[in-house]
Amino acid sequence: EADLYTEYKGVYLPKELHSQESLKYYEDFTFRQDDILIVTYPKSGTTWMQEIVPLVQSEGDLTPVLKIPNWDRVPWLEETRAHVLDLENRASPRLLATHYHYNMMPASFFIIKPKVIYVMRNPKDVLTSSYHYYGMASYLVDPGTMDEFLQKFINGKVMFGSWFDHVKGWLKAQDLNHIMYISYEEMILDLKDSVSKISNFMGKSLGCEVIEKIANHCVFKNMKQNKMSNYSLVPAEFMDQKKSEFLRKGTSGDWRNHLTVTQAEYIDAVYKEKMKNFKDIFLGDL
Ligand code: PPS
Repeated sequence: EADLYTEYKGVYLPKELHSQESLKYYEDFTFRQDDILIVTYPKSGTTWMQEIVPLVQSEGDLTPVLKIPNWDRVPWLEETRAHVLDLENRASPRLLATHYHYNMMPASFFIIKPKVIYVMRNPKDVLTSSYHYYGMASYLVDPGTMDEFLQKFINGKVMFGSWFDHVKGWLKAQDLNHIMYISYEEMILDLKDSVSKISNFMGKSLGCEVIEKIANHCVFKNMKQNKMSNYSLVPAEFMDQKKSEFLRKGTSGDWRNHLTVTQAEYIDAVYKEKMKNFKDIFLGDL
């Protein structure tokens, strides 16, 4: 673990993706009020949002998502790449992403209050998706058996720490003027309606045809074909998509194919305990 991860503000981060310099850069980052920041716990729908938000911004023009890799079109602020992208000179509204917990956010965030789209996903599917990802990415610790990985996931001994802390921290931050909450499961159920909500939040009034065009481009089987979003540009030594594709399954409830009844019930019990004050969130069939 110590070889691959560094510990930062109480969570593990893969060293390969986050240099000390990049973490410092983010600490000093200055937000703008009209920035649009996608916030997720890993494997909760980041890549999906990195497709939808630019398309809403471009009002359905596919050029940005077909020409620019997702990590440049909506860069993660904590990644090593962020400080070479000259974000200070990007036109507003800047489209940005982060996996940070609420309490990890830099000072400027709390003063400026940029727009946040917080995406959450059923933890059993996050676990399942993560398990495959840890098995294919060279910069993450091998997941071992599902039982072993499940323990690490529950205890937050994985990249970006505990799913429970992440979701609770951001939900508690509730400030509806600048934070929009949406779940992966809602997006699976009705992508058009989700695109419409996102566009309203971004202050874009788009016609039905444009919304339909965006939703159609962003359904899993179509988005999977986009080289600028399916991580096929990343060399196999970092991500071995022969082991598991990055855009792997794209459904809700795939945990049923990977977790035993005992494992699922164990997560349900932990969820019930840790999330008892958060009854209203819709994460599909929990
Ligand atoms: S990361 O590493 O944090 O950026 O990963 P993230 O993009 O958050 O999560 C990856 C999972 O999201 C699925 N995905 C999609 N599902 C449905 N529709 C679309 N368009 C889509 N794009 C990405 C992706 O397949 C991963 O989930 P699993 O369950 O592994 O398939």
